[in-house]
Amino acid sequence: MSASLFSPLQIRSLTLKNRLVMSPMQQYSSPDGLVGAWHLVHLGSRAVGGVGLIITEATAVTPTGRNTLFDTGLWNAAQVAAWQPIVQFVQAQGAKIAVQLWHSGGKGSHAHPTAGFHYLPLNEGGWTTKSASAVSLDKQQTSEALTVAEIEALVADFAAAAHRAVQAGFDAIELHAGHGYLFHQFYSGLTNHRSDEYGGSFENRIRFLVDTVRAIREAIPAEMPLLVRLSAVDFSDEEHAWHLADSVRLTAVLQQHGVDVVTASAGGFGMPDKTKVVPLYQVPYAEKIKADTGIITGAVGLITTPEQANELVVSGQADLVVLARELLRDPYFPLRAAKALHTETPVPVQYLRAF
Ligand SMILES: Cc1cc2nc3c(=O)[nH]c(=O)nc-3n(C[C@H](O)[C@H](O)[C@H](O)COP(=O)(O)O)c2cc1C
Repeated sequence: MSASLFSPLQIRSLTLKNRLVMSPMQQYSSPDGLVGAWHLVHLGSRAVGGVGLIITEATAVTPTGRNTLFDTGLWNAAQVAAWQPIVQFVQAQGAKIAVQLWHSGGKGSHAHPTAGFHYLPLNEGGWTTKSASAVSLDKQQTSEALTVAEIEALVADFAAAAHRAVQAGFDAIELHAGHGYLFHQFYSGLTNHRSDEYGGSFENRIRFLVDTVRAIREAIPAEMPLLVRLSAVDFSDEEHAWHLADSVRLTAVLQQHGVDVVTASAGGFGMPDKTKVVPLYQVPYAEKIKADTGIITGAVGLITTPEQANELVVSGQADLVVLARELLRDPYFPLRAAKALHTETPVPVQYLRAF
């Protein structure tokens, strides 16, 4: 029998109760990188609402890996302690939870979105951003190119944060390697102009991400799933841009190094033609990556109905359905979807009279 939206899925030793995933969404509500009551309610209510897997917002591995001074972090013990009760609450509802680790690279050092998200200068708490090369990603600042020693230190920062994620009780780790952030700044030829072992050829441009995957695999238990979010394409026709065939090739390498799941998002340095941003527009990326590599894939982007979500799994286009804004609108989407699809799913006893 083919799988459907409410079929369980096993990834290493982790079993998800269904295929619905809460997509990472930055909340800009974490002074000093600390999660708090907002996150308990925000993530906790989606767990109550029945998602199989929650992926936290992008969580920085070092203070200068943030977008703003309000991003979540996992670079110290206080942050581990702050995550623990949230992780435990989510798990007590029968959901699993992964932390999304990232580094913003040349897109860092911005003011809070409500203050305009402009480049935050050094005298206002900002920092000099670093990237694969000296590039200007937000038109307001030019990043410095990371030295090889700095790249190696960042790989160690990711491994240390992954170790802290294990201490915090997370079920899995996702690396945010898309949306124009640091890993993407390295693998896309649009932003990587290096001539050393981290630039030029495909193998060199993916080296930072692959080295990080290897370091994380050594830092976490063998049974713990490792996920990666990619920008499957750059939405650019330029010769040096990143294309879907590159994502397929990269996924095959990541698989060899112990990555279990790839979620196929897109863009980060430019936007697609607005007329192309239609329901399910990124699904073909997940479908192609899955078909060519056999890896477990997540489809994301403008998926808003139970029928769309179910069809993605039934048709085999994707294994996981990753929802962002629809879950902001309705934390109980999974419980409603089960009703709409005439399927059974566990309902919290406190809510039995509603579903
Ligand atoms: C408020 C908000 C914050 C986001 N933050 C992140 C993030 O931290 N990490 C990430 O990978 N994607 C982030 N995204 C992108 C979403 O995870 C998702 O890929 C995108 O919104 C498309 O899915 P949707 O159409 O279901 O909203 C964010 C999106 C929104 C709306």
